[in-house]
Amino acid sequence: MAKLFEKINFGQLQLQNKIVIAPMCQYSALEGEVSYWHEQQWANYALSGAGLCIVEATAVQDIGRISYADLGLWNDIQRAKIKALLAKVKSLSPMPFGVQLAHAGRKASCHKPWDGGGQIAPDQALGWQTVSASELAFAEHDHPPHALTTDEIQQVIQDFATAARRAVDAGFDLIEVHAAHGYLLHQFMSPLSNQRTDAYGGSLENRIRLTLEVFQAIQAAVPEGYPIGVRISASDWMGEQGWDVQSSIGLSTALEQLGAVYIHVSSAGLHREQQIDVKPNYQVGFAAQIKQQVNIPVITVGLITQAQQAEQILQQEQADAIGLARAILYEPRWPWHAAAELGAQIAIAPQYLRCQPHGLKNLFHSF
Ligand SMILES: Cc1cc2nc3c(=O)[nH]c(=O)nc-3n(C[C@H](O)[C@H](O)[C@H](O)COP(=O)(O)O)c2cc1C
Repeated sequence: MAKLFEKINFGQLQLQNKIVIAPMCQYSALEGEVSYWHEQQWANYALSGAGLCIVEATAVQDIGRISYADLGLWNDIQRAKIKALLAKVKSLSPMPFGVQLAHAGRKASCHKPWDGGGQIAPDQALGWQTVSASELAFAEHDHPPHALTTDEIQQVIQDFATAARRAVDAGFDLIEVHAAHGYLLHQFMSPLSNQRTDAYGGSLENRIRLTLEVFQAIQAAVPEGYPIGVRISASDWMGEQGWDVQSSIGLSTALEQLGAVYIHVSSAGLHREQQIDVKPNYQVGFAAQIKQQVNIPVITVGLITQAQQAEQILQQEQADAIGLARAILYEPRWPWHAAAELGAQIAIAPQYLRCQPHGLKNLFHSF
């Protein structure tokens, strides 16, 4: 039996297999609202055979968007449009949908990647003043962020909680807190971007405070037992000066104690001079180290593209679930092919049952 196709629980949410569609910004929202692009994409995901889809970074404040075309949940129109779309895509398959709640901090106010991706200055059309832990810009020529006051930090926490309430109401089955990739929560955690001298800066305990408070505020805002996971960057890839795997273990154990249902282990994004050795499985070692210290599921992600590769990671107990981003964009039926290759069975929409390839018996069954 392939481990990749065993069920797994994230808290009270059961996944039919261990394939998780990782969050991927689409830069296709208008005023933070889902568009026709999201309709086709979420429908594709729903029919992919994956165990869970985590929808792209979705901003809790308008200034928390990476670009003006990001999705948001800072108002009720956004919630209503997502709710209508989720009702549609959930009529296609029982696959659960989670949402990644995010604030981009100093990495906000950018062009879409295919328009160059750089920062848009606050005095330019479609740009705004960014915020962060300290007044340290991400890129040399970026307009420096405003360092959040204590009151403004409280507002960020509240806005994560309000967005979480909207996410539940919209019909999402899970919330992932985006604490990775150099965005606001990560900016507070890394000593390279946080030079504060108040309760949110200095010691590790102080630097992880905002992430833990955001987690707790979300938890208080959603129904009891509603699953909340957290995505982290396990390392800044900046040597001893940066956030590292030991700090990540401290953060992960604190999140586990608060009730996080998983840790999704990514890395990097905080500093422009990061030195990453990008290759297949390049983040699996981080997941494995964290997995040894927590009892909740650990998702690994990053250049996992092959079924056997994913299966081996699970067989070797380096992680509990596999996040896929680019590979599933490239081939949205990746889980079908993986099931075929690993000799497993996969549940698909009954409308598609007749396309089972000749010679492959019992690959498909209906939802
Ligand atoms: C188009 C695209 C958009 C992405 N957007 C997000 C995002 O919204 N939130 C996030 O945490 N990571 C985001 N990522 C990172 C992926 O979730 C993933 O961690 C990364 O691509 C490595 O996995 P892969 O090798 O399977 O692609 C994005 C990646 C891509 C390719």
